[in-house]
Amino acid sequence: MISKVYSAALMGIDAYLVEVETHLEKGMPYFGIVGLPDNAVKESRERVAAAIKNSGIYFVAQQRITINLAPADIKKEGSSYDLPIAIGILTAQGKIDAQAVEDYLILGELALDGSIRPIHGSLSIAIKAREGHFKGLIVPQENAREAAMGSGSVKVYPMGHLLDVVNFLNGNADFDPLVVDVQRIFSEESQSPLDLRDVKGQEHVKRAMEVAAAGGHNIIMIGPPGSGKTMLARRFPTILPLMSLEEAIETTKIHSVAGLLPPDHGLIGVRPFRSPHHTISDVALVGGGRFPRPGEVSLAHHGVLFLDELPEFKKNVLEVLRQPMEDGKVSIARAAFSLTYPAKFMLVAAMNPCPCGYYGDPTHSCTCTLPQIQKYRSRISGPLLDRIDLHVEVPAVNFKQLTSERSGEPSAVVRERVQRAREVQLKRFVNEKNIYCNAHMESNQIRKYCKIDEQGKELMSNAIKNVGLSARAYDRVLKVARTIADLEESEQILAHHLSEAIQYRSLDREIP
Ligand SMILES: Nc1ncnc2c1ncn2[C@@H]1O[C@H](COP(=O)(O)OP(=O)(O)OP(=O)(O)O)[C@@H](O)[C@H]1O
Ligand SMILES: [Mg+2]
Repeated sequence: MISKVYSAALMGIDAYLVEVETHLEKGMPYFGIVGLPDNAVKESRERVAAAIKNSGIYFVAQQRITINLAPADIKKEGSSYDLPIAIGILTAQGKIDAQAVEDYLILGELALDGSIRPIHGSLSIAIKAREGHFKGLIVPQENAREAAMGSGSVKVYPMGHLLDVVNFLNGNADFDPLVVDVQRIFSEESQSPLDLRDVKGQEHVKRAMEVAAAGGHNIIMIGPPGSGKTMLARRFPTILPLMSLEEAIETTKIHSVAGLLPPDHGLIGVRPFRSPHHTISDVALVGGGRFPRPGEVSLAHHGVLFLDELPEFKKNVLEVLRQPMEDGKVSIARAAFSLTYPAKFMLVAAMNPCPCGYYGDPTHSCTCTLPQIQKYRSRISGPLLDRIDLHVEVPAVNFKQLTSERSGEPSAVVRERVQRAREVQLKRFVNEKNIYCNAHMESNQIRKYCKIDEQGKELMSNAIKNVGLSARAYDRVLKVARTIADLEESEQILAHHLSEAIQYRSLDREIP
């Protein structure tokens, strides 16, 4: 007796179909799984046998059971094959209608009592299911909402217990598919509870954030403890352009594959904000590992990666950040295959001005020596700093500002200006490949799009001489000035655009 059940597996953030074939014959009791299963898949045997028995279905033990997971040359991992294997065995034993089974794609982990547990990546799998001939998708209850976001016309049946699935496939019980209104959920999930308005004062920091958001520039904030750096960074996603549905689906796929999607959320509609602690390992930051998982840079895809206390991160960890920052993706190579996780994020970093935190603070005196400060700052490598276009100082707000009733501009207003500046850039770069905002410009585009007049040139040469601006900073200043001009919808880069941009290079200046 042979049966066939369709299921799916993940490769990176995309899914592929897996056929679960079951072969039964009389003989000494045996239960084997082939097709490159990992340990979790091999352990399926125990869970499946227990789940079938505890569901009150007679489990014929006096048989040779062979399960094949095809295609057999790709490594299968995880526990999501439990349910398809159980259904395969019961179908081969004639307890389920074999015809009906082939119309569905079936996923789920089994508990020993037969109840169905959630799995990872059901959104990607639902998207894949659209390509097949399937009538429906049988998924664990907890994953139904996200699956329904991507399944299109394929119906999604949430199931809680093995017996329910058996009854459903045999036509003994009616189950309604879950129907979701994708647009409604998208607009519900696009609301963020945070607003830039909550931050008192700090007008120049908010302005720098607006410039960063408008041009897609990475930004670092330098300020004493408690000055509100974390508070400001958290609100950065609220001034970035609204997420499109396509972006939301892509980001949700990554979180779903990592198993980090909350069960009642079908979609991540707000740009993600990830703030890993500085003790994080390189694998956790960029992804990978023995069973590859997306790292923080991928979880921040289409959103913000916030690295607080940047100099405290280990050197090798900051080093591995460079590749994803450049390519917008992470590639993980293994002997048999390679995976890619998308990782387009904006970097927001924060640091204290010195080890004690109070250098330049008017109310506290700094206890650090000049070499200590230099050593602290030099922990951020040149190549990383090169990818951060804006440096902004965040002084502590005084009591008067903090208690002022005046509330600042709401995020929505700032976002509108950001969006307008982005449109200007999209028009500018229509003929350039892979460039969508000013931050992406390479030196030849900078020469082409960031022309400055005589007055501007003089300003720049003064800045290099007097402020101690490094030559390396020159291109970054031009890019940022381009964005400031775009925010004003000015074709030309004028002197006041340049002088504002020069202010955002405080880490390039010598420590006085
Ligand atoms: N400008 C501000 N407006 C309103 N509240 C503020 C402001 N600045 C700081 N606060 C308050 O101070 C708290 C501490 O700020 P936050 O944690 O963002 O500081 P920080 O600069 O990140 O400090 P650290 O260096 O210790 O990480 C905030 O939670 C907020 O309540
Ligand atoms: Mg903080």
